[in-house]
Amino acid sequence: MTYQIVLLPGDGIGQEVIPAAHAVLEATGLDAHFATWPIGWDCFEREGAALPTETLAAVRGADAALLGAVSSPSRRVAGYTSPVVGLRRALDLYACVRPVRTPPLPGARPNVDMVVVRENSEGLYVGQEERQGDTAIARRVITRHGSSRITGWALRYARQHNRRRITLVHKANVLRETCGLFRETALEVLVEAGVMEVDELLIDTAAYQLVRAPERFDMIVTTNLFGDILSDAASAWGGGLGLAASANLGEHGAVLEPVHGSAPDIAGRGIANPLAAIGAAALLLDHLGESERGERVRQAVDATLRAGVWTPDLGGTATTADVTNYVIAQLA
Ligand code: NAI
Ligand code: MG
Repeated sequence: MTYQIVLLPGDGIGQEVIPAAHAVLEATGLDAHFATWPIGWDCFEREGAALPTETLAAVRGADAALLGAVSSPSRRVAGYTSPVVGLRRALDLYACVRPVRTPPLPGARPNVDMVVVRENSEGLYVGQEERQGDTAIARRVITRHGSSRITGWALRYARQHNRRRITLVHKANVLRETCGLFRETALEVLVEAGVMEVDELLIDTAAYQLVRAPERFDMIVTTNLFGDILSDAASAWGGGLGLAASANLGEHGAVLEPVHGSAPDIAGRGIANPLAAIGAAALLLDHLGESERGERVRQAVDATLRAGVWTPDLGGTATTADVTNYVIAQLA
């Protein structure tokens, strides 16, 4: 079977790191057809839409999509909404998954190997905010359906990837209804399944533990905002933005991406670190059920880091092309 893969380079360094990840995917020998579609700010300025209907249709019809990054203006711009959020909504990509492990880099914290699973479709990010005079109010929507499916998803992932322990993170002692429902539902799903070691932490304690003792975590499962913050914090242990990759997954779609943005400060200079996008390509291979290829890519990335073939963000002088070529040479 030929896989259908959509490439969405987007803005800034997305235009540099997605071609790099594409070349690595080709080098694994994967039988795939690649199609590139526009998304993001430049696309909005050119075509009047940040997420054109044709792009969305292409992603819907594909086995997976690899997204670079999009630039989003901090000011309000008429007609512009975040195409990343748009994709998540349209495809109901309810699970956001970020694996973090100790990179083979000098000074890295040893024994970190965790996965942060974030509920990606509800919570405080449902966009129900209002201003009443000098008071601003946000609704936090937690459902049994949403809590149950993210926990079920995490459980299946844990079994497939030999994870031993799931840590539920919430604040049910204060947010009794929203976090309460999340906790109650998640525990039901996990207890019914048995097998897994389960514990729970309050969000503030979890943040402290993540800084003090990251090696204690195996899998974290949490709600949208808490997961957004914890997954960024966790990625610091994995070598930072130049290396962090994430997966947005649902029943009907998959969008894999580096965690970083479009990095306008270094865009166009050929020095962006492609390893985060290449890490996202490895997650794409896992998602397709090609985890043997995914593992080869991760080993090639590790070999590249061990050899000191580093872009400037890691303290080296290598270019995007140097790093990409080194990774590809390891795959040969
Ligand atoms: P950013 O991640 O683009 O950059 C932060 C810093 O990290 C910059 O100094 C940049 O040069 C560096 N950096 C990031 N990725 C790198 C890489 N692969 N290699 C070397 N250095 C790298 O975040 P920032 O500056 O806050 O946002 C810039 C733009 O990106 C904004 O328009 C923002 O909205 C957008 N953004 C998009 C995201 C997405 O598409 N998922 C995520 C985060 C930001
Ligand atoms: Mg974030």
